[in-house]
Amino acid sequence: MAGKKKKSKKKKAKRPDKYDLYQRSVQEPEADVALLKRLFKSRFGKPARRLREDFGGTALLACEWAKEHRDNRAWAIDLDPEPLAWGEKHNRAALPEDARERVSLIKGNVLTTRTPPADITVAFNFSYFLFKTRAELLSYFRKARTTLARQGLLVLDAYGGADAQRRQKEIREHGDFDYVWDQDVFDPITHDVVNYIHFELPRGRSLRRAFSYHWRLWSLPEIKELLGEAGFKDVAVYWEGTDPKNDEGNGIFTRRNHAPDDPAWIAYVVGTR
Ligand SMILES: C[S@@+](CC[C@H](N)C(=O)[O-])C[C@H]1O[C@@H](n2cnc3c(N)ncnc32)[C@H](O)[C@@H]1O
Repeated sequence: MAGKKKKSKKKKAKRPDKYDLYQRSVQEPEADVALLKRLFKSRFGKPARRLREDFGGTALLACEWAKEHRDNRAWAIDLDPEPLAWGEKHNRAALPEDARERVSLIKGNVLTTRTPPADITVAFNFSYFLFKTRAELLSYFRKARTTLARQGLLVLDAYGGADAQRRQKEIREHGDFDYVWDQDVFDPITHDVVNYIHFELPRGRSLRRAFSYHWRLWSLPEIKELLGEAGFKDVAVYWEGTDPKNDEGNGIFTRRNHAPDDPAWIAYVVGTR
């Protein structure tokens, strides 16, 4: 973590909290929950109740899921105790007591951690891109399939487009801070990418490389094929619609087999067990 420690007898500047900044700039758990509910209900005609959040980090989505309905149950799995401890303190502890008891934050490897059968398993914010070979990604998809109930969905997000294959920075303003998405490396031969998240704060302060990602930029056809090889029956891509007013994404994702060229897209991929 790149926060500056400033020793001052007068007034200690509040240390920026990278997980707080991340949640506020990257995550939208209400929208995610709405999408997951819709995807499951439209396939199986009943509500999803059990969510497994692979690569859960601070478990924000798992906590939102538990809050959503008194019958909802969630498990968030992450290797790193630091985001889990943060999520325990700031996300799980902030839930009403009954919801709190329906979320488990588990320190473990997604490849080996067992949980009760889930209606939905998610791997969001491209976390599975850390598996860099077909064999590794296939092995994760096979494992993820075993985490599901007989009627179950694996839901992934993915990003791409010509802009994803370039070194570039994107800055988004978030009121009291700027979020910087820094695509530092793209290797056209391996599709290895190195991305960073920086936060620019008031009074010239910044959190450089608050988060670092060493990924393979997987394409949608590769992901679809590997999900099929892992045994998923139906594999669907949900593509974002366009707001005609500004030509930007409108946040509405629908199932599509084809899409027009788009320099910077985010999509969801859904595998039905
Ligand atoms: C990009 S963050 C995702 C955080 C959150 N799920 C989100 O949507 O923003 C990736 C997380 O995956 C965790 N991670 C990496 N490899 C893992 C593994 N094999 N098993 C469990 N967690 C892993 C990292 O510790 C990190 O917290």
